[in-house]
Amino acid sequence: MAISRREFLKTGTVAAAGLAAAPEMVFGKAKKTAKKVAPSDKLNIIGVGIGGRGASDLKNLESQNIIGLADIDFKYAQHVFDRYPDAKRYNDYRKLYDDMLKDADAVMVATADHTHALIAAEAITAGKHVYCEKPLTHTVYESRLLTKLAAKYKVATQMGNQGASGKGTAIVKEWIQNGEIGEVTKVESYTNRPIWPQGLCTPTEVHEIPATLNWDSFIGPAKMRPYNSIYHPWNFRGWWDFGTGALGDMACHILHAPFTALNLGYPIKVQGSSTALLNDCAPNAQIVKMVFPARENLPKVAMPEVEVWWYDGGLMPPRPEGMPEGKDLMQSGGGTIFHGTKDTLICGCYGVGPYLLSGREPAHPIADAQTIDRGDHQMDWVRACKEDPAVRVPSKSDFSVAGPLNEMVVMGVLAVRLQALNRELLWDGENMRFTNIGPDETIKIMTEDGFSVTDGHPTFNKKYTEPMNAQAFAAELIKHTYRDGYVLPDMPE
Ligand SMILES: NC(=O)c1ccc[n+]([C@@H]2O[C@H](COP(=O)([O-])OP(=O)(O)OC[C@H]3O[C@@H](n4cnc5c(N)ncnc54)[C@H](O)[C@@H]3O)[C@@H](O)[C@H]2O)c1
Repeated sequence: MAISRREFLKTGTVAAAGLAAAPEMVFGKAKKTAKKVAPSDKLNIIGVGIGGRGASDLKNLESQNIIGLADIDFKYAQHVFDRYPDAKRYNDYRKLYDDMLKDADAVMVATADHTHALIAAEAITAGKHVYCEKPLTHTVYESRLLTKLAAKYKVATQMGNQGASGKGTAIVKEWIQNGEIGEVTKVESYTNRPIWPQGLCTPTEVHEIPATLNWDSFIGPAKMRPYNSIYHPWNFRGWWDFGTGALGDMACHILHAPFTALNLGYPIKVQGSSTALLNDCAPNAQIVKMVFPARENLPKVAMPEVEVWWYDGGLMPPRPEGMPEGKDLMQSGGGTIFHGTKDTLICGCYGVGPYLLSGREPAHPIADAQTIDRGDHQMDWVRACKEDPAVRVPSKSDFSVAGPLNEMVVMGVLAVRLQALNRELLWDGENMRFTNIGPDETIKIMTEDGFSVTDGHPTFNKKYTEPMNAQAFAAELIKHTYRDGYVLPDMPE
C-alpha cells in the first residue's frame, strides 16, 4: 500500500505501528532510539505571529519547509516575509488556515497571548502539530482545553519555554527528586520583569490605524477598542485583554523547574497583592502565594504540601540564611529558591546555574546523559512531530506538562486581579472554580488613577468600575467570552 508523505508525517511509518510502545524515557539517549523518519522528510510549517519572537522560532525551524505566514502587521513582519520569500503571506490567520492548513504538518504560534489558544486549538483539531509560545494561553480554561485536545488528537506539542530543554532544569529535577535537599515545603521565584511600561491608565487618544496593520485581527477574540500604538507591538504584555503581565512573560520560564521537579498539579489556595491595580493594565509589581497539596511521595523523597511564592517587578523574597553577601540571587533576569529540610537549592531563570547553598555539588548523571540544551527546544519538537504517536518521546514542554504549568501561571493573574476580595481564594482545580466567593458578592477595580497637583495641592482622583458580581467576574477571567467570529472547539471529555 502506498503511503503519502503527509500521512507518513502525520501517523508515522507503517513499520512503526508494529513496534512495541517505547518505555517512558525522557533523556537524549532514549530519543535517539525512537523511530524517526528519514531526514529528507521535512515538515511543512505555518507560522502565525512572526515579527518578534516568532522570527527566532522560525529561524530555529528553517531546516523544515516554511510554507505559509500570517501576521497582522505587514510592516513589522516584513523582515520575516523577506527571509521566506516562497511562503504565502496573510494578515489574518483564519484566511491562511482556510487556504493552507490542509497542506501543513505543523503550526508555530507566536502572537499576543490572548490569541494563542484559538490559533493552536484549531490547528490541533485539524491534526496538526503545534509549537506555541509561552504563556501557552490567556486563561485557565484555554490551558485545560489545549491539554485535552493535544492528548485527543495525539499531536506533538511544545510550549516556547526553552529553559525546559536546558541542562539546568534537568539538574534541578534530579537533585530534588534524589533527595539532595530533603523535603521541600517552600519555593520562592522572582523576576526583574516587567521591563516595559505597566500600571498605565487606558489611553484616551485614538491613533490612525496604519495601512499595514489589521487591527481587527489583532483584537481577535477580545472586546474591540480604538487603536493606539501603545498596545502593539511588544507592549500587549501589559494590557490584560491581550497579555498576562510579568507572570505570563516570565513564569513559564521560571516556574517550570519547580513545577516539574516537585510534580505540582493544581493549587488549592491562592492569594495575590500588587502595586496599584487597574482593571485594564497589569501592575508594576506583584506578589502571589499558591499552596499545593501533598503529592505522591517519590522513592527518595517525600512530597509534602508546598507553598510557592512569586515576586516580580524587582521585588525579592528575603535572602535565605547563609546566602553570601554581595551575591545576586537573580540569574538571567530571575530565579528560584527551593527551601529543603536538608539544604537550599537556588537556580536562575530558565533553570540556569543551579547550586546548593551549602556549597555541596552532588553528581547529576541523568542530566549529564541529556543531550538537549537551550536552542534545541524547537528542533526537539520537530523530532517529536516525526515520531509515531505510539512510540513518541514527548518534547520537554509537551502540552501535557505545559498545560497544567500554564494553569498555575494564569492562576497568579487571577489571584492579583481578585485581590480586592481580601481573602485567600480556595481553588477547585478539577472544576476550575473558586469555592469561597459568594453568589452575591461584588468587586470594584480601579479604572483611572488621576493623581494631579494644582498650585501645590495634590488631588487623588481615583475612579473605579461599578460594583461587579464577583463570581461572574472570576468566571469571565477563568473562561473568556469571545467576540463574535471566534469560537473554541468543545472541551474533550
Ligand atoms: N520564549 C521566549 O523567550 C519568548 C520571548 C519573547 C516573546 N515570547 C512570547 O512570544 C509571543 C509574542 O511576543 P513578542 O515579543 O514576539 O511580541 P511582538 O509584538 O514583538 O510580536 C508578535 C507578533 O505577532 C503578530 N501578531 C499579533 N497578534 C496576531 C494575530 N492575531 N495574528 C497574527 N499575528 C499576530 C504581531 O504583529 C507581531 O509580529 C508572546 O506570547 C510572548 O510571551 C517568548
